[in-house]
Amino acid sequence: MKYSAYYVEENDGVFSASISELELQKPEDGFVQIRVSHSSLNYKDALSASGNKGVTRNYPFVPGIDAAGKIADANSSHFIDGDEVIVTGYDMGMNTPGGFGEYINVPAKWVVKKPKNLSTLEAMSIGTAGLTAAASVLKIHESSENSDLPVLVSGATGGVGSIAVMLISMLGKEVSALTGKSSSTDFLKSIGASNIIMRDDYLQTDTKALERASFSSAIDTVGGKILSKMLPQISPHGVVACCGNVAGIEVNTTVFPFILRGLTLAGIDSAESPIEFKTSIWNKFADEWKLDLSSLIKIVTKEDLQQEIDLILKGGQQGRVVLEHGE
Ligand SMILES: NC(=O)c1ccc[n+]([C@@H]2O[C@H](COP(=O)([O-])OP(=O)(O)OC[C@H]3O[C@@H](n4cnc5c(N)ncnc54)[C@H](OP(=O)(O)O)[C@@H]3O)[C@@H](O)[C@H]2O)c1
Repeated sequence: MKYSAYYVEENDGVFSASISELELQKPEDGFVQIRVSHSSLNYKDALSASGNKGVTRNYPFVPGIDAAGKIADANSSHFIDGDEVIVTGYDMGMNTPGGFGEYINVPAKWVVKKPKNLSTLEAMSIGTAGLTAAASVLKIHESSENSDLPVLVSGATGGVGSIAVMLISMLGKEVSALTGKSSSTDFLKSIGASNIIMRDDYLQTDTKALERASFSSAIDTVGGKILSKMLPQISPHGVVACCGNVAGIEVNTTVFPFILRGLTLAGIDSAESPIEFKTSIWNKFADEWKLDLSSLIKIVTKEDLQQEIDLILKGGQQGRVVLEHGE
C-alpha cells in the first residue's frame, strides 16, 4: 500500500521537496502505525526540510516532529487499532520519518492517548510549540506569581511565543510581548499581550551588567542578544525560561543577575521530556488550560507546506501552521 508525504531529497548537496507516494512498511514489534490526520509546522521542521544536518542526518526524509491521528496497526500491547493518539518530539521528524506523511511508524513509548476533550486539530494547533510554551510557563509561574511586574515573552508572534502569551495572560499575569513585526500589534493584543515592545527599540541601548528590574520573569524563544539583554532586567528571584535560538546561540552576561538578584536561567527541552510529563501537559491543555487557538492557526495542505517553510525560516510566521492530511 502507498501513502502520500512531503518528501525531502538530496541531490549533489541540493535539497528539494516534492509530494511523493511512498511504500507503507509494517510496524516492528513495540511500534505502532498511525494514520496521521494532522501535523504542524515548527521551526525545527523547516530546518529538517531544508537540509540542516544538525537536525536530520540522512535524506531522503519525511519531516514533521508533531502528529495526531488514529492507530492503524497496533503492534504493541499498549494500544488498540482506532485509538486516537498524539506524538511529539523524541526522534520523530529528525531521523524517524514524521507527521508530514499520512502514516508514521513510531515506538509505542513515544505515543500519548489523546484526551477526549481535545480534537486532533486542536492538539496540532498546540503541537511541540505549545508543549514548549507550557513547559516554560511552568518554570516561571511560581516565581512571577507574587510580582506586579509583567512577564516578558520574546519572539512573541511565533509558535512558541504566541501560545506562551496566551497562557500567561490566561493565568492572570500581564505580558510584555517583544516582537520584530510592527504589523502584529493588534494580533498580540488580541491574544492577551498588554504591552508591545519592538525588537529594534529594545536592542537600541547598550546592555548593562544590571538594569532597572522591568519584568518579573521571561520566556525567551530566540536567544542571542535578546536573551543577553533581558537577564539584567528581571526582578529578584525571577526565572528566565530559555527555549530557542533563532536569533543566535550565544549568551553574553555577567554573574550579577544571578548573585545579586538570585535569577534562575531555566533550560527547556520539550522534545526529550518524559512521556509522563508530556501526558500531564496534554491533560492540562484539554482541561484547565483549554485555549481557543482558532485565531492563531493557519490550516494548510502538503502542497502549501513549502511556502510556509520558507516563511518560518525568514522569521515571518505569525501563530501556528497546522497541516491537514486529506481523508
Ligand atoms: N527547547 C525546546 O524544547 C524547543 C521546542 C520548540 C521550539 N524550540 C525553539 O524555539 C524557537 C521558536 O520556535 P517556533 O517554532 O515558535 O518558531 P517561529 O514560529 O518561527 O517563532 C520564532 C519567532 O522568533 C522571532 N524571530 C525570528 N527571527 C528572529 C531574529 N533573527 N531575531 C529575533 N527574533 C526573531 C519571530 O517573532 P517576532 O517577529 O514576533 O519577534 C518569529 O516568529 C526556535 O529556535 C525553536 O527551535 C525549542
